[in-house]
Amino acid sequence: ETLLILNGPNLNLLGTRQPEVYGRETLADIEGSCRQIAQGFGVRIDFRQSNHEGELVDWIHEAKGGADGIIINPAGYSHTSVAILDALLAVEIPTIEVHLSNIHQREDFRHHSWVSKAAKGVICGFGSLGYILAIQALTAELKAAKQ
Ligand code: DQA
Repeated sequence: ETLLILNGPNLNLLGTRQPEVYGRETLADIEGSCRQIAQGFGVRIDFRQSNHEGELVDWIHEAKGGADGIIINPAGYSHTSVAILDALLAVEIPTIEVHLSNIHQREDFRHHSWVSKAAKGVICGFGSLGYILAIQALTAELKAAKQ
């Protein structure tokens, strides 16, 4: 099984970007932890980041037939992108949305995510642990769906 893990804009700057909000781990660190945990669960992961909305949309389309599940941190596009929502609704691949920070504790404009409508569940506020929890939740979902 393959999980596609998508990261939106500015997440390439993790480590130095507002560390008081997002922590000191880099995206490469998070990818490393995801790979380790995925190996334990016996799933393959395809881990990507883009600063471009259309590229994220293209990757979601390409996941059809290729990925069994999607984990997405849409970053700033969470709060603006009907296009990413529509792409996820189109491919109908089980999806979990992740945010490092607790978006509900922050500015009002971060409280709503368009992407959540296409997500099986949303994990926010646990930092990089959220990605690990999402891998665990998604593999459990996929296993349950097979039975
Ligand atoms: C974020 C929260 C978003 O509001 C923000 O635009 C991000 C990161 C998070 O992981 O906490 O870039 O998705």
